Amino acid sequence: MEETIVRAAVRDDIPTIVSLWRVLQETNALHDPYLTPGPGSEDWFREYLKARIDGEIGIFVAVCAGEVVGYTFGQIVQRPTLAAGECGYIADLCVRPDSRGHGTGRRLYERLRIWFIDNDVHNIEVQVVRANPASQAFWRKMGFGEFLKTLRTEISINQGNA
Ligand SMILES: CC(C)(COP(=O)(O)OP(=O)(O)OC[C@H]1O[C@@H](n2cnc3c(N)ncnc32)[C@H](O)[C@@H]1OP(=O)(O)O)[C@@H](O)C(=O)NCCC(=O)NCCS
Repeated sequence: MEETIVRAAVRDDIPTIVSLWRVLQETNALHDPYLTPGPGSEDWFREYLKARIDGEIGIFVAVCAGEVVGYTFGQIVQRPTLAAGECGYIADLCVRPDSRGHGTGRRLYERLRIWFIDNDVHNIEVQVVRANPASQAFWRKMGFGEFLKTLRTEISINQGNA
């Protein structure tokens, strides 16, 4: 097995990152149809990356045999009402299906963790799809534990809540 390295993402990586983002969205939608990406979401994500890849976000790719096989990105979010003031938020982490199970996800997370520490951020949050057991297991292995639960309901005008 060739060595995998993790490096900062550059503009040329954007098309591959977007294709991995699609894999991530499809995985989430498979586990929970509510998470099905809307029309135009891929274009939105591409533009989002183009606007921020040069510094505003921490974005890293895993490269094996010259190919990008995974990516992660996170950002610093202000939490003005908390004593901590801000936190690190991990938006995405995805490893190509044929490259999983070899420590690539862990390496990507470790690199992003260092980026947060370098930016003086010491609390990190990630949202995990409840119905995705692989993701749950992975983040717990990375040392994360539950601290909030997001609840959702579908509402209609005739519905009571008794
Ligand atoms: C979750 C994901 C990122 C894991 O990537 P990976 O490269 O296979 O993970 P690693 O090989 O680095 O595994 C790291 C640890 O997590 C555990 N882990 C990873 N996938 C797991 C799974 N499906 N079930 C149970 N444990 C798992 C590993 O056992 C490993 O533990 P260890 O270090 O103690 O041996 C990958 O499966 C993926 O991209 N999934 C689709 C997208 C997704 O759900 N992303 C996470 C939400 S943002």
